[in-house]
Amino acid sequence: MNIVDIILDKRYGKELNYEQIMYFVKGVTARTIPDYQTSALLMAIVLNGMSEREMTALTLEMADSGVHDDLSYVGDVTVDKHSTGGVGDKITPIVMPLCNSFGTKIVKLSGRGLGFTGGTVDKFSSIEGFNIDVDKKDFPRLVKESGMVISSQTPSLAPADKILYALRDVTGTVDSIPLIASSIMSKKIAAGADAIVLDVTCGSGAFMQTEERARELASAMLKIGKLARKTTTAIITDMDQPLGRTCGNVIEMQEVFETLNGDGAEDVLDIASVIGAKMVKHSGKAGGLNDDELVIECRKRIGDGTALKEYIKLIRSQGGIIGDNGPVYKDEPVPVSEIKASRDGYIEAIRADEIGHASVMLGAGRVTKEDVIDLGAGIRFLKKRGDKVSKDDVLCILYTGKDSKIKDDKDHINDICQRIRKAYKISDSKPAERVSVIDVIGD
Ligand code: URA
Repeated sequence: MNIVDIILDKRYGKELNYEQIMYFVKGVTARTIPDYQTSALLMAIVLNGMSEREMTALTLEMADSGVHDDLSYVGDVTVDKHSTGGVGDKITPIVMPLCNSFGTKIVKLSGRGLGFTGGTVDKFSSIEGFNIDVDKKDFPRLVKESGMVISSQTPSLAPADKILYALRDVTGTVDSIPLIASSIMSKKIAAGADAIVLDVTCGSGAFMQTEERARELASAMLKIGKLARKTTTAIITDMDQPLGRTCGNVIEMQEVFETLNGDGAEDVLDIASVIGAKMVKHSGKAGGLNDDELVIECRKRIGDGTALKEYIKLIRSQGGIIGDNGPVYKDEPVPVSEIKASRDGYIEAIRADEIGHASVMLGAGRVTKEDVIDLGAGIRFLKKRGDKVSKDDVLCILYTGKDSKIKDDKDHINDICQRIRKAYKISDSKPAERVSVIDVIGD
Protein backbone atom coordinates (compact mmCIF):
# COMPACT_ATOMS: atom_id res chain seq x y z
CA MET A 1 0.00 0.00 0.00
CA ASN A 2 1.21 3.52 -0.58
CA ILE A 3 -0.10 6.91 0.44
CA VAL A 4 0.02 8.45 -3.04
CA ASP A 5 -2.47 5.84 -4.33
CA ILE A 6 -4.73 6.57 -1.36
CA ILE A 7 -4.60 10.31 -2.10
CA LEU A 8 -5.36 9.64 -5.78
CA ASP A 9 -8.27 7.35 -4.94
CA LYS A 10 -9.83 10.03 -2.77
CA ARG A 11 -9.04 12.75 -5.27
CA TYR A 12 -10.99 10.80 -7.93
CA GLY A 13 -13.90 10.27 -5.56
CA LYS A 14 -13.41 6.57 -4.77
CA GLU A 15 -14.46 5.12 -1.43
CA LEU A 16 -11.39 4.21 0.65
CA ASN A 17 -11.41 0.76 2.22
CA TYR A 18 -10.71 -0.01 5.89
CA GLU A 19 -7.11 -1.08 5.19
CA GLN A 20 -6.34 2.19 3.41
CA ILE A 21 -7.75 4.25 6.27
CA MET A 22 -5.89 2.14 8.83
CA TYR A 23 -2.66 2.58 6.85
CA PHE A 24 -3.20 6.35 6.77
CA VAL A 25 -3.99 6.76 10.49
CA LYS A 26 -1.13 4.50 11.58
CA GLY A 27 1.26 6.41 9.29
CA VAL A 28 0.07 9.76 10.69
CA THR A 29 0.47 8.57 14.29
CA ALA A 30 3.91 7.04 13.69
CA ARG A 31 4.89 10.20 11.77
CA THR A 32 5.95 8.09 8.76
CA ILE A 33 3.57 9.95 6.42
CA PRO A 34 4.87 13.48 5.88
CA ASP A 35 2.59 16.44 6.60
CA TYR A 36 2.34 17.42 2.91
CA GLN A 37 0.83 14.07 1.96
CA THR A 38 -1.45 14.07 5.00
CA SER A 39 -2.62 17.57 4.05
CA ALA A 40 -3.25 16.50 0.46
CA LEU A 41 -5.46 13.65 1.61
CA LEU A 42 -7.29 15.91 4.09
CA MET A 43 -8.05 18.38 1.29
CA ALA A 44 -9.29 15.55 -0.96
CA ILE A 45 -11.60 14.46 1.89
CA VAL A 46 -12.88 18.03 2.32
CA LEU A 47 -13.64 18.24 -1.41
CA ASN A 48 -15.02 14.75 -2.03
CA GLY A 49 -16.48 13.85 1.36
CA MET A 50 -16.58 10.43 2.99
CA SER A 51 -19.10 7.62 3.07
CA GLU A 52 -20.51 6.47 6.40
CA ARG A 53 -18.21 3.45 6.25
CA GLU A 54 -15.11 5.56 5.66
CA MET A 55 -16.05 8.03 8.39
CA THR A 56 -16.59 5.24 10.92
CA ALA A 57 -13.32 3.56 9.98
CA LEU A 58 -11.47 6.87 10.37
CA THR A 59 -13.10 7.46 13.77
CA LEU A 60 -12.34 4.00 15.14
CA GLU A 61 -8.76 4.07 13.88
CA MET A 62 -8.17 7.50 15.43
CA ALA A 63 -9.69 6.29 18.70
CA ASP A 64 -7.34 3.27 18.55
CA SER A 65 -4.27 5.46 17.88
CA GLY A 66 -3.91 6.01 21.64
CA VAL A 67 -5.13 4.59 24.92
CA HIS A 68 -8.78 3.65 25.49
CA ASP A 69 -9.74 4.71 28.99
CA ASP A 70 -11.18 1.94 31.11
CA LEU A 71 -13.93 3.38 33.30
CA SER A 72 -14.89 0.06 34.91
CA TYR A 73 -13.75 1.43 38.30
CA VAL A 74 -16.84 3.66 38.24
CA GLY A 75 -18.96 0.53 38.68
CA ASP A 76 -21.93 2.15 36.94
CA VAL A 77 -23.11 3.41 33.56
CA THR A 78 -20.99 6.42 32.56
CA VAL A 79 -22.15 9.34 30.42
CA ASP A 80 -20.02 11.92 28.63
CA LYS A 81 -21.00 15.21 27.02
CA HIS A 82 -19.42 17.28 24.30
CA SER A 83 -20.17 20.68 22.84
CA THR A 84 -19.12 21.57 19.32
CA GLY A 85 -18.21 24.95 20.75
CA GLY A 86 -19.38 28.45 21.17
CA VAL A 87 -19.07 31.74 22.99
CA GLY A 88 -20.10 31.88 26.64
CA ASP A 89 -20.65 28.11 26.80
CA LYS A 90 -20.67 27.29 30.50
CA ILE A 91 -22.91 24.23 30.34
CA THR A 92 -20.38 21.62 31.56
CA PRO A 93 -19.75 23.11 35.04
CA ILE A 94 -23.53 23.25 35.49
CA VAL A 95 -24.51 19.80 34.21
CA MET A 96 -21.75 17.87 35.96
CA PRO A 97 -22.99 18.62 39.50
CA LEU A 98 -26.60 18.58 38.31
CA CYS A 99 -26.27 15.02 36.99
CA ASN A 100 -24.32 13.95 40.03
CA SER A 101 -27.22 15.04 42.23
CA PHE A 102 -29.22 12.20 40.59
CA GLY A 103 -26.38 9.73 41.21
CA THR A 104 -24.97 9.93 37.65
CA LYS A 105 -21.21 9.51 37.77
CA ILE A 106 -19.22 11.74 35.42
CA VAL A 107 -15.64 11.34 34.21
CA LYS A 108 -15.00 14.31 31.95
CA LEU A 109 -11.98 15.09 29.83
CA SER A 110 -11.99 18.61 28.42
CA GLY A 111 -9.91 20.81 26.18
CA ARG A 112 -8.32 24.22 26.48
CA GLY A 113 -9.77 27.01 24.36
CA LEU A 114 -8.21 27.94 21.03
CA GLY A 115 -9.59 30.69 18.82
CA PHE A 116 -12.79 32.41 19.80
CA THR A 117 -14.51 29.47 21.48
CA GLY A 118 -13.65 29.13 25.15
CA GLY A 119 -12.36 25.98 26.81
CA THR A 120 -13.85 24.35 29.89
CA VAL A 121 -10.36 23.58 31.22
CA ASP A 122 -9.50 27.30 31.24
CA LYS A 123 -12.73 28.11 33.02
CA PHE A 124 -12.12 25.63 35.84
CA SER A 125 -8.47 26.77 36.00
CA SER A 126 -9.68 30.20 37.04
CA ILE A 127 -10.64 28.80 40.46
CA GLU A 128 -7.81 29.19 42.98
CA GLY A 129 -6.19 25.84 43.76
CA PHE A 130 -8.33 23.79 41.36
CA ASN A 131 -6.29 20.98 39.80
CA ILE A 132 -7.37 20.50 36.20
CA ASP A 133 -4.46 18.21 35.26
CA VAL A 134 -5.52 15.24 37.33
CA ASP A 135 -3.31 12.15 37.30
CA LYS A 136 -5.29 9.23 35.86
CA LYS A 137 -4.47 7.12 38.91
CA ASP A 138 -6.45 9.59 41.04
CA PHE A 139 -9.63 9.33 38.96
CA PRO A 140 -11.10 6.34 40.87
CA ARG A 141 -10.54 8.05 44.23
CA LEU A 142 -12.12 11.30 43.05
CA VAL A 143 -15.11 9.52 41.52
CA LYS A 144 -15.55 7.64 44.79
CA GLU A 145 -15.26 10.86 46.83
CA SER A 146 -17.44 13.24 44.82
CA GLY A 147 -18.99 11.12 42.04
CA MET A 148 -17.24 13.13 39.34
CA VAL A 149 -13.91 14.28 38.01
CA ILE A 150 -12.90 16.74 35.32
CA SER A 151 -9.44 16.90 33.81
CA SER A 152 -7.56 18.17 30.78
CA GLN A 153 -7.20 15.74 27.89
CA THR A 154 -4.01 13.72 28.04
CA PRO A 155 -1.70 13.36 24.98
CA SER A 156 -2.52 9.64 24.89
CA LEU A 157 -6.18 10.34 23.99
CA ALA A 158 -6.56 9.83 20.21
CA PRO A 159 -3.09 11.23 19.31
CA ALA A 160 -3.82 10.85 15.58
CA ASP A 161 -6.60 13.41 15.96
CA LYS A 162 -4.22 15.83 17.65
CA ILE A 163 -1.80 15.64 14.72
CA LEU A 164 -4.56 15.86 12.13
CA TYR A 165 -6.33 18.73 13.88
CA ALA A 166 -3.14 20.80 14.08
CA LEU A 167 -2.63 20.30 10.31
CA ARG A 168 -6.28 21.01 9.51
CA ASP A 169 -6.03 24.24 11.43
CA VAL A 170 -3.31 25.57 9.09
CA THR A 171 -4.41 24.03 5.78
CA GLY A 172 -8.00 25.24 5.52
CA THR A 173 -9.37 21.76 6.18
CA VAL A 174 -11.24 22.20 9.46
CA ASP A 175 -14.66 22.77 7.92
CA SER A 176 -15.62 19.26 6.83
CA ILE A 177 -18.43 17.27 8.41
CA PRO A 178 -16.70 13.83 8.19
CA LEU A 179 -13.48 15.29 9.60
CA ILE A 180 -15.21 17.14 12.44
CA ALA A 181 -17.49 14.20 13.26
CA SER A 182 -14.63 11.68 13.31
CA SER A 183 -12.40 14.04 15.30
CA ILE A 184 -14.99 14.55 18.04
CA MET A 185 -16.25 10.98 18.17
CA SER A 186 -12.76 9.41 18.20
CA LYS A 187 -12.02 11.26 21.45
CA LYS A 188 -15.40 10.42 22.94
CA ILE A 189 -15.03 6.73 22.09
CA ALA A 190 -11.48 6.60 23.48
CA ALA A 191 -12.64 8.36 26.66
CA GLY A 192 -14.67 5.23 27.40
CA ALA A 193 -18.14 6.38 28.52
CA ASP A 194 -21.16 4.18 27.72
CA ALA A 195 -23.33 7.04 26.52
CA ILE A 196 -22.63 10.38 24.86
CA VAL A 197 -24.72 13.56 24.78
CA LEU A 198 -23.63 15.95 22.03
CA ASP A 199 -24.43 19.65 22.16
CA VAL A 200 -24.34 20.57 18.46
CA THR A 201 -24.29 24.35 18.35
CA CYS A 202 -25.48 26.37 15.37
CA GLY A 203 -25.34 30.02 14.41
CA SER A 204 -22.78 32.78 14.04
CA GLY A 205 -20.68 31.57 17.00
CA ALA A 206 -20.54 27.91 15.97
CA PHE A 207 -18.68 25.75 13.45
CA MET A 208 -22.02 25.07 11.84
CA GLN A 209 -23.54 28.41 10.94
CA THR A 210 -26.90 27.07 9.76
CA GLU A 211 -29.38 24.67 11.29
CA GLU A 212 -29.15 22.49 8.18
CA ARG A 213 -25.38 22.03 8.59
CA ALA A 214 -25.77 21.43 12.34
CA ARG A 215 -28.29 18.67 11.58
CA GLU A 216 -25.88 17.12 9.07
CA LEU A 217 -23.08 17.09 11.65
CA ALA A 218 -25.42 15.70 14.32
CA SER A 219 -26.57 12.95 11.99
CA ALA A 220 -22.96 11.99 11.11
CA MET A 221 -22.01 11.75 14.80
CA LEU A 222 -25.14 9.79 15.67
CA LYS A 223 -24.32 7.24 12.97
CA ILE A 224 -20.80 6.83 14.31
CA GLY A 225 -22.13 6.52 17.87
CA LYS A 226 -24.54 3.81 16.81
CA LEU A 227 -21.87 1.82 14.97
CA ALA A 228 -19.61 2.15 18.01
CA ARG A 229 -22.50 0.83 20.17
CA LYS A 230 -22.73 3.95 22.31
CA THR A 231 -26.07 5.38 23.36
CA THR A 232 -25.85 8.77 21.65
CA THR A 233 -28.06 11.86 21.62
CA ALA A 234 -27.47 15.08 19.71
CA ILE A 235 -29.06 18.28 20.94
CA ILE A 236 -29.08 21.13 18.45
CA THR A 237 -28.72 24.43 20.30
CA ASP A 238 -28.67 28.07 19.35
CA MET A 239 -25.27 29.77 19.26
CA ASP A 240 -26.22 32.76 17.17
CA GLN A 241 -25.65 35.07 20.12
CA PRO A 242 -23.33 34.48 23.13
CA LEU A 243 -24.78 32.03 25.64
CA GLY A 244 -25.90 33.47 28.96
CA ARG A 245 -24.78 36.76 30.46
CA THR A 246 -21.01 36.51 30.18
CA CYS A 247 -18.06 35.27 28.18
CA GLY A 248 -14.56 34.89 29.57
CA ASN A 249 -13.14 32.67 32.30
CA VAL A 250 -13.50 34.00 35.87
CA ILE A 251 -16.58 35.92 34.79
CA GLU A 252 -18.23 32.78 33.34
CA MET A 253 -17.47 30.80 36.48
CA GLN A 254 -19.07 33.63 38.48
CA GLU A 255 -22.13 33.21 36.26
CA VAL A 256 -22.10 29.46 36.90
CA PHE A 257 -22.21 30.19 40.63
CA GLU A 258 -25.05 32.71 40.15
CA THR A 259 -26.94 30.13 38.08
CA LEU A 260 -26.54 27.45 40.73
CA ASN A 261 -27.78 29.99 43.29
CA GLY A 262 -31.06 30.44 41.46
CA ASP A 263 -30.17 33.38 39.22
CA GLY A 264 -29.59 31.78 35.83
CA ALA A 265 -30.12 33.18 32.33
CA GLU A 266 -33.02 31.55 30.46
CA ASP A 267 -30.93 30.20 27.56
CA VAL A 268 -28.41 28.62 29.95
CA LEU A 269 -31.20 27.07 32.04
CA ASP A 270 -32.99 25.72 28.95
CA ILE A 271 -29.92 24.10 27.45
CA ALA A 272 -28.44 22.80 30.72
CA SER A 273 -31.71 21.21 31.81
CA VAL A 274 -32.28 19.41 28.48
CA ILE A 275 -28.67 18.17 28.29
CA GLY A 276 -28.64 17.22 31.96
CA ALA A 277 -31.93 15.32 31.62
CA LYS A 278 -30.59 13.23 28.72
CA MET A 279 -27.41 12.44 30.63
CA VAL A 280 -29.37 11.38 33.71
CA LYS A 281 -31.71 9.27 31.58
CA HIS A 282 -28.83 7.49 29.79
CA SER A 283 -27.21 6.70 33.12
CA GLY A 284 -30.40 5.00 34.29
CA LYS A 285 -30.98 7.42 37.18
CA ALA A 286 -34.23 9.03 36.01
CA GLY A 287 -36.06 7.33 38.89
CA GLY A 288 -39.31 6.82 37.00
CA LEU A 289 -39.60 10.38 35.70
CA ASN A 290 -40.57 10.69 32.04
CA ASP A 291 -38.54 12.91 29.67
CA ASP A 292 -40.54 16.09 30.29
CA GLU A 293 -40.67 15.58 34.05
CA LEU A 294 -36.93 14.98 34.08
CA VAL A 295 -36.22 18.27 32.29
CA ILE A 296 -38.43 20.10 34.81
CA GLU A 297 -36.71 18.39 37.73
CA CYS A 298 -33.29 19.30 36.28
CA ARG A 299 -34.28 22.93 35.92
CA LYS A 300 -35.45 22.95 39.53
CA ARG A 301 -32.26 21.35 40.84
CA ILE A 302 -30.01 23.79 38.93
CA GLY A 303 -31.42 26.71 40.89
CA ASP A 304 -32.59 25.34 44.23
CA GLY A 305 -29.20 24.57 45.76
CA THR A 306 -29.19 20.84 44.98
CA ALA A 307 -26.66 21.11 42.13
CA LEU A 308 -24.77 23.82 44.03
CA LYS A 309 -24.00 21.40 46.86
CA GLU A 310 -22.46 18.96 44.38
CA TYR A 311 -20.57 21.78 42.65
CA ILE A 312 -18.90 22.81 45.91
CA LYS A 313 -18.03 19.15 46.50
CA LEU A 314 -16.45 18.91 43.03
CA ILE A 315 -14.38 22.05 43.53
CA ARG A 316 -13.15 20.97 46.96
CA SER A 317 -12.33 17.45 45.79
CA GLN A 318 -9.98 18.83 43.12
CA GLY A 319 -8.26 21.27 45.48
CA GLY A 320 -10.29 24.39 44.67
CA ILE A 321 -10.74 27.01 47.38
CA ILE A 322 -14.18 27.97 48.60
CA GLY A 323 -14.39 31.22 50.54
CA ASP A 324 -17.26 32.89 52.42
CA ASN A 325 -18.84 34.07 49.17
CA GLY A 326 -18.27 30.97 47.08
CA PRO A 327 -15.29 29.88 44.97
CA VAL A 328 -12.15 32.01 45.18
CA TYR A 329 -10.84 33.02 41.75
CA LYS A 330 -7.31 33.63 40.55
CA ASP A 331 -8.16 37.08 39.24
CA GLU A 332 -10.70 39.83 39.60
CA PRO A 333 -12.36 41.14 36.42
CA VAL A 334 -11.82 44.93 36.26
CA PRO A 335 -14.24 46.95 34.08
CA VAL A 336 -12.37 48.82 31.34
CA SER A 337 -15.09 50.07 29.04
CA GLU A 338 -18.77 49.81 28.23
CA ILE A 339 -20.76 49.79 25.01
CA LYS A 340 -23.90 51.90 24.82
CA ALA A 341 -26.90 51.68 22.52
CA SER A 342 -26.57 54.02 19.53
CA ARG A 343 -30.36 54.46 19.26
CA ASP A 344 -33.74 53.37 20.65
CA GLY A 345 -35.07 50.01 19.47
CA TYR A 346 -34.76 46.28 19.99
CA ILE A 347 -31.65 44.13 19.94
CA GLU A 348 -32.09 42.12 16.76
CA ALA A 349 -28.78 40.23 16.83
CA ILE A 350 -25.48 39.94 18.69
CA ARG A 351 -23.00 38.17 16.41
CA ALA A 352 -21.39 35.57 18.65
CA ASP A 353 -18.30 35.18 16.46
CA GLU A 354 -17.52 38.91 16.61
CA ILE A 355 -18.03 38.90 20.37
CA GLY A 356 -15.76 35.85 20.63
CA HIS A 357 -13.02 37.60 18.66
CA ALA A 358 -13.43 40.72 20.80
CA SER A 359 -13.11 38.61 23.91
CA VAL A 360 -9.87 37.08 22.57
CA MET A 361 -8.60 40.62 21.86
CA LEU A 362 -9.31 41.46 25.51
CA GLY A 363 -7.06 38.54 26.48
CA ALA A 364 -9.70 35.96 27.43
CA GLY A 365 -8.72 33.47 24.69
CA ARG A 366 -5.75 32.19 22.71
CA VAL A 367 -4.76 32.85 19.12
CA THR A 368 -1.95 30.29 19.29
CA LYS A 369 -1.65 27.30 21.62
CA GLU A 370 1.25 28.96 23.43
CA ASP A 371 -0.64 32.16 24.38
CA VAL A 372 -1.21 32.80 28.08
CA ILE A 373 -4.76 33.89 28.73
CA ASP A 374 -5.95 36.64 31.04
CA LEU A 375 -8.38 34.78 33.31
CA GLY A 376 -9.99 38.03 34.45
CA ALA A 377 -10.80 39.24 30.92
CA GLY A 378 -14.29 38.93 29.47
CA ILE A 379 -17.57 40.59 28.65
CA ARG A 380 -20.83 40.91 30.60
CA PHE A 381 -23.96 41.31 28.47
CA LEU A 382 -26.63 43.50 29.99
CA LYS A 383 -28.83 43.34 26.88
CA LYS A 384 -29.49 40.31 24.73
CA ARG A 385 -31.48 39.55 21.57
CA GLY A 386 -35.10 40.72 21.82
CA ASP A 387 -34.44 43.26 24.61
CA LYS A 388 -35.86 46.76 24.23
CA VAL A 389 -33.23 49.48 24.56
CA SER A 390 -33.11 53.26 24.72
CA LYS A 391 -30.27 55.31 23.31
CA ASP A 392 -27.24 55.24 25.64
CA ASP A 393 -28.38 52.19 27.61
CA VAL A 394 -25.35 50.08 28.47
CA LEU A 395 -25.36 46.97 26.26
CA CYS A 396 -22.31 45.27 27.69
CA ILE A 397 -19.28 45.83 29.92
CA LEU A 398 -15.73 44.87 28.98
CA TYR A 399 -13.33 43.52 31.62
CA THR A 400 -9.68 42.64 31.88
CA GLY A 401 -7.71 41.09 34.69
CA LYS A 402 -6.06 43.26 37.37
CA ASP A 403 -2.59 43.12 35.81
CA SER A 404 -3.60 43.33 32.17
CA LYS A 405 -1.45 45.61 30.01
CA ILE A 406 -4.26 45.79 27.45
CA LYS A 407 -6.41 47.93 29.72
CA ASP A 408 -4.01 50.88 29.36
CA ASP A 409 -3.80 50.61 25.57
CA LYS A 410 -6.55 53.01 24.53
CA ASP A 411 -6.25 52.28 20.78
CA HIS A 412 -6.59 48.55 21.35
CA ILE A 413 -9.58 48.99 23.64
CA ASN A 414 -11.15 51.28 21.01
CA ASP A 415 -10.67 48.60 18.32
CA ILE A 416 -12.38 46.06 20.58
CA CYS A 417 -15.27 48.44 21.25
CA GLN A 418 -15.69 49.04 17.51
CA ARG A 419 -15.87 45.32 16.92
CA ILE A 420 -18.50 44.85 19.63
CA ARG A 421 -20.58 47.77 18.36
CA LYS A 422 -20.66 46.09 14.96
CA ALA A 423 -21.73 42.80 16.55
CA TYR A 424 -24.89 44.40 18.03
CA LYS A 425 -27.71 45.09 15.59
CA ILE A 426 -30.56 47.31 16.82
CA SER A 427 -33.82 47.55 14.85
CA ASP A 428 -37.22 49.18 15.18
CA SER A 429 -39.26 46.05 15.77
CA LYS A 430 -38.90 43.15 18.16
CA PRO A 431 -37.24 40.21 16.40
CA ALA A 432 -38.94 36.81 16.18
CA GLU A 433 -38.27 34.60 19.21
CA ARG A 434 -35.58 31.94 18.76
CA VAL A 435 -35.59 28.87 20.94
CA SER A 436 -32.35 27.85 22.67
CA VAL A 437 -32.94 24.12 22.25
CA ILE A 438 -33.75 23.63 18.58
CA ASP A 439 -34.04 19.84 18.49
CA VAL A 440 -33.18 16.65 20.30
CA ILE A 441 -32.18 13.79 17.99
CA GLY A 442 -31.12 10.20 18.52
CA ASP A 443 -31.45 7.98 21.58
N1 URA B 1 -13.77 19.97 17.74
C1 URA B 1 -12.99 18.88 17.56
O1 URA B 1 -12.64 18.22 18.54
N2 URA B 1 -12.65 18.54 16.32
C2 URA B 1 -13.01 19.22 15.22
O2 URA B 1 -12.67 18.85 14.12
C3 URA B 1 -13.80 20.35 15.41
C4 URA B 1 -14.18 20.70 16.69
